[in-house]
Amino acid sequence: MTMADRTPGEGGIVPFLRAGPPPDRTRVEGWRQWNEQRDSFIPAPRLSADEYASMSPRRRALHDLHRTATHVNMGLLETPMSARVTRLMRGRMRNNALNFAPGTRDGLMISGGGYLGKTETACDAAATFEILWRDLHRQLLPGPIPGTRDLFVPVAYCRTPVRATPKGLCTAILDFYGAPLPRTLNGLIRAVRDSLRDHHTTALLLDDITRLRLHREDDQDTLDLVRELMDLNVTLVLIGVDIPQSGLLRSGYPDPRTGQWVFPDLKTGKSYNPSAATQTERRFDLVDLDPFDYDTAEGMTAFVAHLAGIEDRLRLFRARPGMLTEGAMPEYLFRRTRGIVGLLKRLVEDGCAEAIESGAEELTPDLLSTIRISLGNLTDRDREAGEVPDIPEEDPGSPPKKPRSRGRNTVFDDRGAKAVDG
Ligand SMILES: Nc1ncnc2c1ncn2[C@@H]1O[C@H](COP(=O)(O)OP(=O)(O)OP(=O)(O)O)[C@@H](O)[C@H]1O
Ligand SMILES: [Mg+2]
Repeated sequence: MTMADRTPGEGGIVPFLRAGPPPDRTRVEGWRQWNEQRDSFIPAPRLSADEYASMSPRRRALHDLHRTATHVNMGLLETPMSARVTRLMRGRMRNNALNFAPGTRDGLMISGGGYLGKTETACDAAATFEILWRDLHRQLLPGPIPGTRDLFVPVAYCRTPVRATPKGLCTAILDFYGAPLPRTLNGLIRAVRDSLRDHHTTALLLDDITRLRLHREDDQDTLDLVRELMDLNVTLVLIGVDIPQSGLLRSGYPDPRTGQWVFPDLKTGKSYNPSAATQTERRFDLVDLDPFDYDTAEGMTAFVAHLAGIEDRLRLFRARPGMLTEGAMPEYLFRRTRGIVGLLKRLVEDGCAEAIESGAEELTPDLLSTIRISLGNLTDRDREAGEVPDIPEEDPGSPPKKPRSRGRNTVFDDRGAKAVDG
């Protein structure tokens, strides 16, 4: 492929930029839009330093933007931990969706610390399932009835509002569908049931569920609601930080035979769903999404394989093979991030921005030691609910900090193409 094929044109549109804000996955249209475009980002072409040096300044600037977009939109890389969660989740959604008997479906809880990729891993698995399910149903379902808003919505994704009450949770679900909001809790729950049924929803993802107020005795209402949701013929996927500590499992117990959590029916609990009256118990698998583990040989191999995946997606002119995977780098990166994928992504992203900006064009422990991992805009994360991980302090063994060079990338100026060996 030649450079001219893939680089943004001089005066024309910039194909890697998207107009408007990113899709809001907590609304049915946004979820759909996200699902359709999630794999469509085209990374920057791999140019040689010579090709880059021969470009006009404007094209070089555009290419730098495209490189940055490539680093920021790296996409998900499969890790052994995410593969385990994905496998379980897809299996559960598929089996439940193919179970045509009415009644309770086994659910799934995805637990882990902040920034470990719970949200992205779960959304990715659900979105893949949705594509399959839509394909299967294209022939089966009748088209929309004229004049009605008939939507087939196999997967619903909602985020729990901070310190949510049962009403707040129901509202978040109804907002996904854009359904009207009744005023009473009973009305809300009935509306949730109707929306799930009318839209043929088979999987309901409730993210950040540990934001629910579950620490007090009077939160029984919330636990009752979670039971109700399980009785709605959907696969309930609850995602949260450290679920076992949250109170969500309070009325359940682990079944030693299957390892699942069992929630027996509470005689005192209110039931909003008459058809569930005969149900006696609900079951959840609890799966942890862990950070990388650097203490075992397999753990180290998996971490280095992840670094190789990242390295392959980088577009830095002085990057040599093994830049992230050899020498002191893996251990350095592990120390900086404690094996948390989200922190690693952030460090690499910011490191690359610095490498482009300063003209260093490669990542080294030296360069990375000048970068503080800052999680940036945290308005959508709840610190109190543990969604923001502690960021390891710069370790004492790391190289001394150099002053951060700011300013224009001058590495390719006036020195001719020979100054860089791509
Ligand atoms: N397997 C992966 N490969 C590459 N990047 C990943 C992977 N999983 C997650 N990330 C990135 O890590 C960051 C954090 O992920 P995510 O938001 O899913 O974490 P989380 O566990 O839901 O955090 P929180 O508890 O704060 O909600 C995101 O930027 C995401 O793109
Ligand atoms: Mg999350």
